[in-house]
Amino acid sequence: MKFNKQWSIITGIGLFFGAGTISLNSCVHAPYVLPVSERTYSAGICFERDILPVFISNCAKSGCHNQGDGASGYTLDNYKDIVRKGIVPGNPAASKIWESVDMNTFSVSHMPANAPGLTVAELDLIRAWITAGAVDSGDCANTCDSTNYTYSGAILPMIQLNCLGCHNSASAAGGSLTDYTSIKNAALTGRLIGDISHSPGYNAMPLGGIQLSDCQVAQVTKWVAAGAPEN
Ligand code: HEC
Repeated sequence: MKFNKQWSIITGIGLFFGAGTISLNSCVHAPYVLPVSERTYSAGICFERDILPVFISNCAKSGCHNQGDGASGYTLDNYKDIVRKGIVPGNPAASKIWESVDMNTFSVSHMPANAPGLTVAELDLIRAWITAGAVDSGDCANTCDSTNYTYSGAILPMIQLNCLGCHNSASAAGGSLTDYTSIKNAALTGRLIGDISHSPGYNAMPLGGIQLSDCQVAQVTKWVAAGAPEN
């Protein structure tokens, strides 16, 4: 299954870009188009719920931008450090972090390194969040509804936002969560619930992140109790 990653393969084409010529023989991102939905987003973005999980899952990994490693001086697992060095509130174009994830810049240090890149939805959110002042709160009113626990409506979006940056391939530590079968397997062995509810004897997930809300844990619990259907 594809997750909105906008990739194209350009083989053997020299791209003339600005002052220099860059030859790309590998994958490059399709140009990122500025979001139509930015205004809608900026009204409702909550840093902790919508933005931080993207950083935890894609950037704050071991060997990269977690506490302890802080590659290139960037620790990206908490608000203060994310904004301190990488964000100019109100100005995405001047923000180092935006420059490195934006598909349009083709920055030499494109982030996340050696990974497919953020989804267009994630990019939209980050850009709208910076534009709106990169605040630490925003509209965090609880939008989770524990009576909605379908795979497509609740489980998959939660996994995409909170887990996929790390669990994005079969070789990922802890395994893949990229498709229904692998998510169902984690569910039916009890690991999914054990890990997200931080139960003793399990690995607390999302690793290095904030625990999912009680409502999200309730959604997963009900979905697993119903047999983890692909509904
Ligand atoms: C920052 C990276 C990262 C994020 C984000 C993350 N994981 Fe993990 N996950 C890992 C690593 C690394 C392991 C291997 C841990 C180990 O074996 O010690 C792992 C292991 C697992 C395992 C299998 C091992 C087990 O039995 O516990 C499951 C299931 C899992 N994670 C679920 C999730 C879920 C669900 C989320 C999102 C809510 C998530 N992870 C978010 C890095 C991450």
